[in-house]
Amino acid sequence: MELVAGIDAGTQSLKVLVYDPAARKVVASTSASLELASGADGSREQAPADWVAALNSCFAAIAPAVRSRIVALAVSGQQHGFVPLDAAGQVLAPAKLWCDTSTSAECTQIMDAVGGTAQTIAAAGNPILSGYTASKLPWTKTHRPEAYANLATILLPHDYLNFVLTGERFCEYGDASGTGWLDVRTRTWSPDLLRATDPDRDLAACLPPIAAPEALYDIAPAAAKTLGLPATVKVAVGGGDNMMAAIGTGCVTPGRLAMSLGTSGTLFAYSDTPVVDPEGAWAAFCSSTGGWLPLICTMNCTVVTEQVADAFDFNTRHADGHLRNTPPGADGLVMLPFLNGERTPDLPLGKGVLAGLDTTNMTPAHFYRAAMEGATYSLKYGYDAFVRGGMQFDRIVLTGGGSNSAQWRQLVADVFGLPVDVPTQSEGAAFGAALQALWALGHARGEGASIADITERHVALDPQLSARPDPARGHAYATAYARFLRYLDALTPLQRG
Ligand code: XUL
Repeated sequence: MELVAGIDAGTQSLKVLVYDPAARKVVASTSASLELASGADGSREQAPADWVAALNSCFAAIAPAVRSRIVALAVSGQQHGFVPLDAAGQVLAPAKLWCDTSTSAECTQIMDAVGGTAQTIAAAGNPILSGYTASKLPWTKTHRPEAYANLATILLPHDYLNFVLTGERFCEYGDASGTGWLDVRTRTWSPDLLRATDPDRDLAACLPPIAAPEALYDIAPAAAKTLGLPATVKVAVGGGDNMMAAIGTGCVTPGRLAMSLGTSGTLFAYSDTPVVDPEGAWAAFCSSTGGWLPLICTMNCTVVTEQVADAFDFNTRHADGHLRNTPPGADGLVMLPFLNGERTPDLPLGKGVLAGLDTTNMTPAHFYRAAMEGATYSLKYGYDAFVRGGMQFDRIVLTGGGSNSAQWRQLVADVFGLPVDVPTQSEGAAFGAALQALWALGHARGEGASIADITERHVALDPQLSARPDPARGHAYATAYARFLRYLDALTPLQRG
């Protein structure tokens, strides 16, 4: 029987999942951890060669008999990373990532050159926020002049892995919209943004062609050999990890809302039309299925609960008891969880804050609860903008590592006042990539199933993991969220650097 594979190149690890569509079963799943180089200036970088090494080791860990049945695959990748290549395809410098806040001054410079935030949004649909790819180009020009001088192509992390797999330089709408250079309304590169980013060269010449969402490429013979895959394997275009998680959670039709609790926290909704906020309260991205995917992203999600667990020497996997043993609102303890700077709210130079300490709440359990609540309130802050913008939802489909916690699932249901459902495949991005490959393959064979047909057939919910909002707890969280907002408001002037 034919198999499809999804590769998810995240910040902390690279995962490969192999899916049997006929049996609707994941038949292999491997992962390899990735190093992250962090600097005090907010820089967060990785070597693209490490992604390739992780890819190779993940496939090597899959049984040859399984590999030999793979017919198509796709790559999901952390968004916004900047991979500079020379004309020969060599990587010129470490990749600056989505969580790199060292280029926040360059964000302002680019928007000033366009004429301000409102003009930037008018030109391309998005402001240039900290972490977006565009800001990394002027930074490279100043700090890595040799890389800038030899720059021939700019790729995103998943585009780079596609390049390794196929030998072809191309991108697709979803991840391309996270560069900040794509006018998301017309889905073409914005000349205004490109000129504002670099008036000295024609940046369009450095950007690869944009492939259609259902396009399929041939795997390069050398890549097939290295990975132990058939030479006939097809490579679908893939996309940013959120775009792939949208597929993996079935968020491919209007009105659907998904939330991913990973290193970053994200909240995204599918739309058939561009959904641009004139004030840029959300990211007006494209989907990787031919539509759009308005998105909220926080830079501090499971990373915060993990740091608290590390500090007090316990494992997040066994930490739900801390939530059970403390009340909603953590007895007044509030955490503004901006350990990596933050994008929602937009405080790239922000720092974490613990407030409201007293003699009752100074315990590891309260700290852990305050971290989980703080990460969830940041997402609620973004969600409130969706609601103010007129969007309406009747449930949340949850994915990412945090969705493995029963307490976090219940917290989301109570804070948002919405039912929470969880798919059986918790690796939403890798699974979504596998489903995109299945969709593109079917399209190439003239089978005609839409992406919605595919997700309806393959994305199953696990009723055991559902959570329903509890009005009494919801009320307690509303009070605690209001307290979080008061601290946020009061401390914002200090967080602006
Ligand atoms: C989304 C974003 C993050 C990364 C994490 O805009 O920056 O969710 O994609 O991998």
